[in-house]
Amino acid sequence: MTLHTFREGGPDAGLPIVLVHGFPLDHRMWLAAAAALPGTRAVLAVDLPGTPGHGADLPEPSIDASAAYLASALAGAGVERAVVAGMSMGGYVALALAEQHPSLVAALALVDTKSTADLPEARANRLRIADEAEAGGSVAPVRPMATSLLGETTRAARPALSEQLAAWIEDQPPTGVAWSQRAMAARPDRTEVLRTFAGPVVAVVGDEDDLTPLAAAEHVVANAADARLVVVPQAGHMAAFEQPDAVAAALAELAERADSLRA
Ligand code: MLT
Repeated sequence: MTLHTFREGGPDAGLPIVLVHGFPLDHRMWLAAAAALPGTRAVLAVDLPGTPGHGADLPEPSIDASAAYLASALAGAGVERAVVAGMSMGGYVALALAEQHPSLVAALALVDTKSTADLPEARANRLRIADEAEAGGSVAPVRPMATSLLGETTRAARPALSEQLAAWIEDQPPTGVAWSQRAMAARPDRTEVLRTFAGPVVAVVGDEDDLTPLAAAEHVVANAADARLVVVPQAGHMAAFEQPDAVAAALAELAERADSLRA
């Protein structure tokens, strides 16, 4: 099962929230933030292609393929319109979903992510990591991310979070790690999708995120018609995991904005 129901929606509970994970992780990175979400709306989380459970039968690597997979999983679950929250790689997928299926995406939460494509050096680094993971049959090339994804405050004060990330990373299939890196390397700039997106947007960023820093979130806000910025204190790239209450509050506020536009 690759679409996880964290919470069934109550009657008239408002739009569901769909959570899309980052790399090299799966739906579990959202557990704490989902648990902190107030209200009774449905909360779902996807496991994208490349994560455990998908098997080795993967399409050509692309973020579009991940978005198409998510769209079909949501259709299978009867979700016609949702608030879509994507963290980092999940944000790339959320933007691709908004491009492919504008009527499905009522609102976008872009959490520790960016709308732009990779610079050539970052792209080359991804392809190198993909080749190494595949050739070695190991997640070793991405093991350091168990600490580099976290902010310096978390790293210093909460080693258990790094241990948890390390365990989740170890669960990922090396072929999936390679697939996701190649998919991200190939993605286009989707700032134009943001510019034409009709719904509300929130850009959330940890104040210690040096992978997709504040400037990336400000770029999102500057290019969307109705966007707010939420800076999460004492959090790195994994704000949703490091400070789940703050991220849940930002998602809840976005969902309420989307509900009120619909009403
Ligand atoms: C992630 O957290 O999903 C990754 O850092 C994404 C990326 O490498 O761009």
